[in-house]
Amino acid sequence: VPPARLHLNDVAYFARHLRNRRQNSHKGSYGNVAVIGGAEGMCGAPLLAARMALHAGAGRVYALFAGTPLPYDAGQPELMCSAAAGYDYASATVVAGPGLGSSAHARQLLAQAIAADTPLLLDADALNLLAADGALQQALCARTQAAVLTPHPLEAARLAGVSIGEIQADRIHSARQLAARYQSVVILKGSGTVIATPAGDAVINSTGNAALATAGTGDVLAGLCGSLLAQGWPQWQAALAAVWLHGMAADVLVTESGNAIGLTASELIPAIRTAINRMV
Ligand code: APR
Ligand code: MG
Repeated sequence: VPPARLHLNDVAYFARHLRNRRQNSHKGSYGNVAVIGGAEGMCGAPLLAARMALHAGAGRVYALFAGTPLPYDAGQPELMCSAAAGYDYASATVVAGPGLGSSAHARQLLAQAIAADTPLLLDADALNLLAADGALQQALCARTQAAVLTPHPLEAARLAGVSIGEIQADRIHSARQLAARYQSVVILKGSGTVIATPAGDAVINSTGNAALATAGTGDVLAGLCGSLLAQGWPQWQAALAAVWLHGMAADVLVTESGNAIGLTASELIPAIRTAINRMV
């Protein structure tokens, strides 16, 4: 039975999935992540998710862009940056949506990612496209493995076809309803993030603070959860751990700097890496 609130005492609930790297392992042992996003002018979002996926331990990380010109991440040359068109999704965990935009091309990329039936996380514009498209919704529910959806309240409102006020009035109920409707594990973000399953389990996260109310922190969460999925974690535990670690890293950074003003999403990445390694 999951706890109602995810406190430090409860992290054993997912912590057993955090394992040290085995001596005789290689990069293929830790999974591939493919982040799909980056319409023209929106390259930062997938790069934040991809950088996070790398720092959370995934073996290989691809950053795939819907738009042109194609960027290269000079600050993180480990990332493989290319056009999303033509990518073979079969051997990767897909994180779709950061900065993806809502073009016909974006929709086509999303349809391919959903149909691939590999581990899948949908965020941001992937959720906006999904909310407006019955065929994509059917394809999502027909998958053999549940996806993870990471809506903020406005994205949740679009997915549910209700107002933001209705989502926020009962966040646990809202997250459960979305999880059942989309047959996915749902992370309803915001202060007091709720994680819910299609079966009706729901947990409120206890970590995190208003320093996270800044652009790109959601992209970091998506990359973190995607990285854990790629390393073989079950969806539910990956979602719980990602939300908890993301909030914990922000709490540590705020304690270190004495206040919550001016945290950047990029700074979260090494802090989350440290939080993971301290927990193993
Ligand atoms: N307390 C705790 N956590 C918070 C708080 C708060 N007051 N405010 C925000 N957060 C956390 C959320 O729980 C979530 O994990 O910060 C993250 C914010 O994620 P998003 O809302 O997705 O923000 P962002 O990363 O900027 O999104 C980038 O994607 O969703 C679209 O419209 C969005 O274009 C934007 C892009
Ligand atoms: Mg977002």
